[in-house]
Amino acid sequence: MKLALPSPVEQVHDERLSVHLLLKRDDLIHPDLPGNKWRKLKYNLATAREQGHDTLLTFGGAYSNHLRATAAAGHLFGFHTIGIVRGEEHLPLNPVLRFAVDRGMKLSYVDRSAYRLKQPPPGDYYLIPEGGTNSLAVKGVAELAAELDPYDYVCVAVGTGGTLAGLAHGLKTGRALGFAVLKGGGFLHDAVAELLPEPRDNWAIDTSFHFGGYAKCPPELLAFVEDFRARHGIALDPIYTGKMMYGIYALDARGFFAPGATVCAVITG
Ligand SMILES: Cc1ncc(COP(=O)(O)O)c(C=O)c1O
Repeated sequence: MKLALPSPVEQVHDERLSVHLLLKRDDLIHPDLPGNKWRKLKYNLATAREQGHDTLLTFGGAYSNHLRATAAAGHLFGFHTIGIVRGEEHLPLNPVLRFAVDRGMKLSYVDRSAYRLKQPPPGDYYLIPEGGTNSLAVKGVAELAAELDPYDYVCVAVGTGGTLAGLAHGLKTGRALGFAVLKGGGFLHDAVAELLPEPRDNWAIDTSFHFGGYAKCPPELLAFVEDFRARHGIALDPIYTGKMMYGIYALDARGFFAPGATVCAVITG
């Protein structure tokens, strides 16, 4: 299996910016294991193998990129996979779940209240938490930081906080800046602090660019994503990287960054 590592870094030329903006193209690592998915799964797969497991079990919503990536990883690395899906089965399967099933994932549906408890069923498997975030994921994402030249800021979108924690852990210089994609992301600060193997003060989370909540994509955000694609040929996803990039442009317009600062945005998927 071919992984594009280290992933490339590209410069963005945009006269509207006062900073130097670079993109860490982790989305190019592998078509089915893009971005933070490979980084988070890498050491989990190795540990599952070391512990003699032949099955991976994880959780996700019906549109979970993490569920999709776990199914792909199982297929590529020779594990059975079980996906616990939030909600009821809807047929025909949506493209994410169709992909997972086509890669051999067995799906099991649980209602929302049961899902909240994240109670794993009995059985012999390696458990990967929702979103793939755990200490081994943080270790994998820290390798992303090690691939980077020194920048003033390295930016990521934040869902569960695992990617930001790995980045903050791995960075030797500069600051890690996360953009929360969900509403009420105040709890994420504690989540990231808890995931860090040792305390760091090189990171922060901006919670003001959630656009109404997870998976909420108002026209202003979609217009920004489309304009970015037209100008730079890069398709940001409106759920994660689009919100991060919007936030970077907005903070720059407000003078948050020193003029001429180097800002590296991680394209995590
Ligand atoms: C493309 C993309 N970027 C960023 C994130 C956020 O990652 P984390 O949950 O580690 O905060 C996710 C979620 O997994 C994602 O799919």
